[in-house]
Amino acid sequence: MSDRPIFVYGSQVLRKRAEPVAAVTPELQRLADEMLEAMYEANGVGLAAPQVGESVRLFVMDVSQEDGKKDPRVFFNPEIVDTSDKKETAEEGCLSIPDVWADVTRPRSITVRALDRDGKPFEIQNVDGLFARCVQHEIDHLDGVLFVDKISSTDRMLNEGRLKKMARAIR
Ligand code: NI
Repeated sequence: MSDRPIFVYGSQVLRKRAEPVAAVTPELQRLADEMLEAMYEANGVGLAAPQVGESVRLFVMDVSQEDGKKDPRVFFNPEIVDTSDKKETAEEGCLSIPDVWADVTRPRSITVRALDRDGKPFEIQNVDGLFARCVQHEIDHLDGVLFVDKISSTDRMLNEGRLKKMARAIR
C-alpha cells in the first residue's frame, strides 16, 4: 500500500497555486517515487503533487497504452511553451474526483518543458493525444484548477450533487 493518500475534491490544497521547486532534492525524488506508486495503485495515468497534499510544482504520469509496459515520467516545474490553435474534446476523469467523467476541450497539441527526476531540463515538442491532454490536466492541478471547472454547464449540473457530497465528506 502506498502511504500517500490522495486528497479529494473539497480539499483546500487542490485549490492552491503550487510553488516551483528550487532544486530537485533527494526528498523531492522520493516524493515523485511515492506519487508514482500511489498513481499506479489507483490505476491513474497522472498525479500532481497537490493531490497528495504537497503544494509543489511536480507531477508524474504514465500514459503507456501497452499492457505490462511501464513508462513512468516525472515533471518538475513543468511549463507549456507552445499550444496548437486546433482544439480537441475528450472525456476526462481525476483521481481526486472519483466517479465523475466529462468532456473537456483543450489544445490538441503542446510543447512542454520541465526538469526530469534527476533535475535535468527536457522539452517534448508538438505532442498530442493522451500525453498532451494529461500534461495539461496535471499542470492545471499545479495552478489550483480542476477539470470540473472546464466542463459544460450541463455536465456541471449533472454532477453538482456528487461534487457537493464529496466536498462535504472531507469537512
Ligand atoms: Ni486530476
